[in-house]
Amino acid sequence: MRDGKPLRHIVLIGFMGTGKSTVGRLLAERLACAACDVDAEIVKREGEAIPAIFANRGEREFRAAETAALGAVLGADDTLVVATGGGAVLSPENRELMLRHGFVVALTADPEQVIARVSQDENRPLLQGDLRERVYKLLEDRKHAYDFAHMTIDTTHLGVDEVVERIAQGFI
Ligand code: S3P
Repeated sequence: MRDGKPLRHIVLIGFMGTGKSTVGRLLAERLACAACDVDAEIVKREGEAIPAIFANRGEREFRAAETAALGAVLGADDTLVVATGGGAVLSPENRELMLRHGFVVALTADPEQVIARVSQDENRPLLQGDLRERVYKLLEDRKHAYDFAHMTIDTTHLGVDEVVERIAQGFI
């Protein structure tokens, strides 16, 4: 409890490659609480990797699994730092869940920085094909998707420790 209110989770949102999972782990250490990654939770609950869920069942089912996983994670009693997938914000139901249960922090980064970061990892079904084209298109589609956050941090020129510190200061 804090000020007579139940403690809230910290929910990290942002486009793919903005550092949510890494920041989430380090922020949880900094705040001495647990970290949770919703993508990892989906894989655990569904028993299938994310590209396999997209390929075998389609994006719609992936999104349903994402909402179910997010709801389960945010229902936890103890404070968690929750890293969400880049598209979790697309559903009004998810946005409502995040705002109800958490202090929502958006991480942003310049497109070229995003491209450099995601090019290390081929596990993202929505970025198959021409990577640069896909990133620019999705960034445009999601231009305002992260605007509902309580706090936004542009990570382009910041080290991960600085990002963690800024969030910790905003939360405590
Ligand atoms: C997605 C982002 C991914 C993952 C899935 C869809 C998206 O998570 O949830 O591939 O729609 O932006 P990361 O943001 O952790 O890469």
